[in-house]
Amino acid sequence: MAYSEKVMDYFSNPRNVGEIKDADGIGEVGNSRCGDIMKMYIKVDDSGVITDCKFKTFGCGAAIATSSMATTLIKGKTVDEALKLTNKAVMEALDGLPPVKVHCSVLAEEAIKAALSDYYTRKGIDPEPIVGKIESHDHEDLACDL
Ligand code: FES
Repeated sequence: MAYSEKVMDYFSNPRNVGEIKDADGIGEVGNSRCGDIMKMYIKVDDSGVITDCKFKTFGCGAAIATSSMATTLIKGKTVDEALKLTNKAVMEALDGLPPVKVHCSVLAEEAIKAALSDYYTRKGIDPEPIVGKIESHDHEDLACDL
């Protein structure tokens, strides 16, 4: 399995690792088969711009690289723009992932959606019509290469 240089870079020197103590939204997702867990923190200003984003990932290299790349892609964006971020865009920004690792990038997309969902909930807004249903983090259908 060959990783792109960018994946290796984001895995070895992940950007935005950590947590935000006074976060406006926190999302945690996991893959029950490999046991990998991703936690995403966002800080949002009054105009709806994501001013900071940090993550913690207990998981494989691709999960770390994709969650790190996802944080850099949504930082400075509005919550609406962040909602449109797909795992495909994250993979493209990393110059691709081996097919068996695609599901790791799905986890990164879901972590952002979970953080946004929490952000709306804290504001007293029902997140489901905006963010969609956050799944039970069960990816039995996805092959997980340990
Ligand atoms: Fe489980 Fe990558 S997220 S192997």
